[in-house]
Amino acid sequence: MPPTPKNPPNVDIEFKDGVPVSKLFDDIYFSKQGGFEESHYVFVAGNEIESKLDQKNLTTLYIGELGFGSGLNLFVTLDTWKSFKNPTSVEFVSLEGYPLTEDILLTLNKSYPNKNLWSEDLIRSYENAISVWRKTQIENLWTYSWDHNDNGSRFTLKVFLGDISVCLPHFPPIQAWYLDGFSPGKNPDMWSLDTLKIMREKSMPGTSFATFSSAGFLRRNLTELGFVVKKKKGFGRKREMISGLL
Ligand SMILES: C[S@@+](CC[C@H](N)C(=O)[O-])C[C@H]1O[C@@H](n2cnc3c(N)ncnc32)[C@H](O)[C@@H]1O
Repeated sequence: MPPTPKNPPNVDIEFKDGVPVSKLFDDIYFSKQGGFEESHYVFVAGNEIESKLDQKNLTTLYIGELGFGSGLNLFVTLDTWKSFKNPTSVEFVSLEGYPLTEDILLTLNKSYPNKNLWSEDLIRSYENAISVWRKTQIENLWTYSWDHNDNGSRFTLKVFLGDISVCLPHFPPIQAWYLDGFSPGKNPDMWSLDTLKIMREKSMPGTSFATFSSAGFLRRNLTELGFVVKKKKGFGRKREMISGLL
């Protein structure tokens, strides 16, 4: 079980079994059992990211995430990209309205001590972007990048800071979506028809999506917007998740 930090900062987060829980949304950031594996199963495998990284005719793969949170999906995707000898470049575009503080983010490193997650430099860079955003309310894009050791391709992270209604319209065209708000009943803005319509507008032909939720309204709305929606077995004890293609 991951350790709980001694002095959790005074934000709307509490810890259950070492996993951050949002008091505002009454939901967890990632699963306490196998969060890393779950993220890989639901989002990386659900979007067939590995075969996309291998596409010889693609120069950059654009991945869009709704809900940056602890950065776990970023790190799982980055890990996958690093494991390839000759991957395409990646632009991982996300958004976050309620950024977690340094103390909370660093608990992710304690949960996964064998992985290379929040480095000092990465945390500093995120904190700087957050403080500029809080001061100006305008400069709301955080960027960071990693170069590949073998083939010189690049993994670029872009996180828009602010509410989804403000951030999502700024996304570039996307080829794979990670729909990762808190559960729809607790976080309706991340799953609303307005949100899905913008997501659809920002999708390239053949775009994929994946999410842990298989809520009926979500399946119907995605289908109406033109996505072919498939149900599949959820991770671990979860019965179902959905993924699909435009
Ligand atoms: C389940 S968490 C995301 C987990 C994340 N992908 C990870 O790897 O840790 C959902 C995230 O969506 C953010 N969020 C919820 N409602 C939002 C809104 N209206 N605008 C922007 N971000 C929002 C929350 O702050 C939270 O970080």
